[in-house]
Amino acid sequence: MTLKFVVMSDLHLLPDGELSLTLDTADRLERAVDAVVARYGDADFCVLAGDLADTGNPAAYERLKSIIARLPIPVHITLGNHDDRPTFLNAFGAHFAAETGKIDKVIDIKGYRVILLDSSEPGRVDGVLEAAQIEWLVARLAEAADRPVIVILHHNANALHIHADTIRILEPDAFVAALKTHPDIRQVIAGHVHLTSTAIWHGLPFTTLAGGHYSVSFEVDRPEAPLRRISGPGQMAVVVGTPDRTTVLFDDFIDGNADIDTIRE
Ligand SMILES: [Fe+2]
Repeated sequence: MTLKFVVMSDLHLLPDGELSLTLDTADRLERAVDAVVARYGDADFCVLAGDLADTGNPAAYERLKSIIARLPIPVHITLGNHDDRPTFLNAFGAHFAAETGKIDKVIDIKGYRVILLDSSEPGRVDGVLEAAQIEWLVARLAEAADRPVIVILHHNANALHIHADTIRILEPDAFVAALKTHPDIRQVIAGHVHLTSTAIWHGLPFTTLAGGHYSVSFEVDRPEAPLRRISGPGQMAVVVGTPDRTTVLFDDFIDGNADIDTIRE
């Protein structure tokens, strides 16, 4: 019994005809959906980890709905700092809100519990997990003490030694303390920074994926260094879970790299 799911993040959709920093983000999402259809049609579900709409525009959420309708697997959603919660709920339905009032969710599947947390806060670029959400998280973790857990949210909690470290989860200590109440956190997966990273922090495994929009250059521990936006990769994460092992693979569905040759047809 193997759990398999796809994580997409940072879609940054706009209304028809609008580009985001020269990029056609709807076309990039179409290509991500093509990749799922081609390679992950047997996955259990797909998670959209926030920054679905670039400016929280209602037309962008309608566009999202029509593009993801092509996905052959269930879709679970949470929000990022570019999203607008009331507009999202209006487009997708009030049932997406948990008892916390935010777009939080629990998915129990194949011996795992997967928890989605909504770290978006109106008017803020950094992320907030409210006290009610931390309480909710601790309760959901306690229910699943006998199983491995994967947590997915938009904002990274851990600093990455990069320019964007000032816009991560605002007060990560309470989040880390909540996670530490569970004996088997397999991954904490985020988007937001538009680059790929893995880390262990407080003994917990943290990962970020580059997502569907532009990527950014970085210089380690030089937050003042010049930054470049890069058109590739368009990247999704593929999570594979068995009882003893949880693997995160990164699928660059837009990579911009030329092939050298083919190892196997
Ligand atoms: Fe983003």
